[in-house]
Amino acid sequence: MSRTFYITTPIYYVNDVPHIGHAYTTLAADVLSRYRKLQGYDVHFLTGTDEHGQKVEKAANTAGETPLELADRVVKRFQALWEKLDISYTDFIRTTQERHKQGVSHLFEKVMKQGDIYLGEYEDWYCTPCETFWTETQLIDFKCPDCNRPTEKLKEESYFFRMSKYQEQLLAHIEANPDFIQPKSRRNEIIAFVREGLRDLSVSRTSFTWGIPVPGNDRHIIYVWFDALANYITALGYPDQSGDFGKYWPVDVHLIGKDILRFHAVYWPTFLMAAGLPLPKKVFAHGWWTVEGQKMSKSLQNVVEPNMLIDRYGVDAVRYFLLREVPFGLDGDFSHAALVNRINSDLANDLGNLLNRSTAMINKYFDGIVQKPEQLEPIDLAHLKKTSAMVDQVETCLTELAFSKALQAIWETISAGNKYIDETAPWALAKEPAKVERLGTVLYCLLESQRIVHTLLSAFMPGTAAKALAWLGTDGAQTDAALQWGGLVPGTKIIKAEPLFPRIEDKPEL
Ligand code: ME8
Ligand code: MG
Repeated sequence: MSRTFYITTPIYYVNDVPHIGHAYTTLAADVLSRYRKLQGYDVHFLTGTDEHGQKVEKAANTAGETPLELADRVVKRFQALWEKLDISYTDFIRTTQERHKQGVSHLFEKVMKQGDIYLGEYEDWYCTPCETFWTETQLIDFKCPDCNRPTEKLKEESYFFRMSKYQEQLLAHIEANPDFIQPKSRRNEIIAFVREGLRDLSVSRTSFTWGIPVPGNDRHIIYVWFDALANYITALGYPDQSGDFGKYWPVDVHLIGKDILRFHAVYWPTFLMAAGLPLPKKVFAHGWWTVEGQKMSKSLQNVVEPNMLIDRYGVDAVRYFLLREVPFGLDGDFSHAALVNRINSDLANDLGNLLNRSTAMINKYFDGIVQKPEQLEPIDLAHLKKTSAMVDQVETCLTELAFSKALQAIWETISAGNKYIDETAPWALAKEPAKVERLGTVLYCLLESQRIVHTLLSAFMPGTAAKALAWLGTDGAQTDAALQWGGLVPGTKIIKAEPLFPRIEDKPEL
């Protein structure tokens, strides 16, 4: 039986259309999924949409639709974008689906029956856009400390989850599992937050109706975050252990943005503890994108629309840029100029040129036929070692979700390839008939290194890598051995590559 790998993205609210922020999380999950698949893991990759709650209800009212009509419409936009972005998810959950509603009711009832959910009364400050209650001391000028918008004082009967009961157990778990919350700076924030004390959490609302009713008291709607977080198990068929839930839970990594870390690193684990379920192995919070130095927002009209980017620059250039430009976990700034730079220098120049030069030479000197490598000289061995070291580095980096560093390691090998050509000077070898075997060996090393480069790149830029691997005469078979030196078979016919990424000359404007 093969090893399993379960990865999730947040489920996105349907009151907003997808932008590069959403694309970023989903893309990172896709790269990790594809990479683990390449290594032979049985991968389960879940994404979806968060469709309940007051925000969605309000947005639907404004649009003159029912919440479900709104959701149906917006879900299509998310799904179309994921297709365009080459996202290889295994399952897409919508919180309005029956499987989800049943799972949430079951979870709520289970926790209630054992006494960790009780009926009480609530009076506090509520921020509707964030769907969050705040105490008066947490407010800043009576505004929401997260989004700085006005809050309103609400008093209602509410069910409460006994979160306070799990404070010490959660702290102990975080401390015993240094990888549980990443990156480290975020982990420290969460530890500090939990140490300050966990209050019991209101987990129902009576102020709106769009959601899943509390079992046995349908005046109450289950709090949208209790509902939403449960998607990670309801999609697997929770509580049924016989299928995917038994197979894939606990999740290997929940990928999220830093804005929703508290929900994933505090609320969700305590819900799971109360339900007697194992905790996620890792919660990783990435940073936020700004746009040309500014916060992305509808009112500033600077929201970067991924469809437009893909149409303009191509899907793989966008995929590459988003993961290369900024270390995962830190905030980053999006600009067209930076994207064009990356395309021209990293993709057109380094990656594309290397493939063009190499495949052109094997065609010019050997009619495209890969020669059997003879005695390797130190310079060849150095290139081989560089390539093998890259494979190990990528493994280390991707285990730590350091996508940018992984790409950096791949690009070091690409640069080494370009340098290897300059130093071995195949055109000079070609002039001497006695050096024909040496020439064949050099071209073998050159092409073999790139086969491995493109095999790794198939996780990042699947379309581009598939083209390159086809030109390199391999079908890109997804096995561990594909990453080992020697996979390129002498006698293989190499096709002269076309430019992978044309240079972009026009001046970028927004
Ligand atoms: O929070 N930069 O959904 P959401 C980077 N439904 N990432 C960004 C971003 C930005 N500027 N803006 C958004 C929700 N994101 C809940 C989640 S999960 C059980 C429920 C990304 O539609 C980031 O991953 O507001 C963030 O966590 C997610 O979009 C929030 O999407
Ligand atoms: Mg949000």
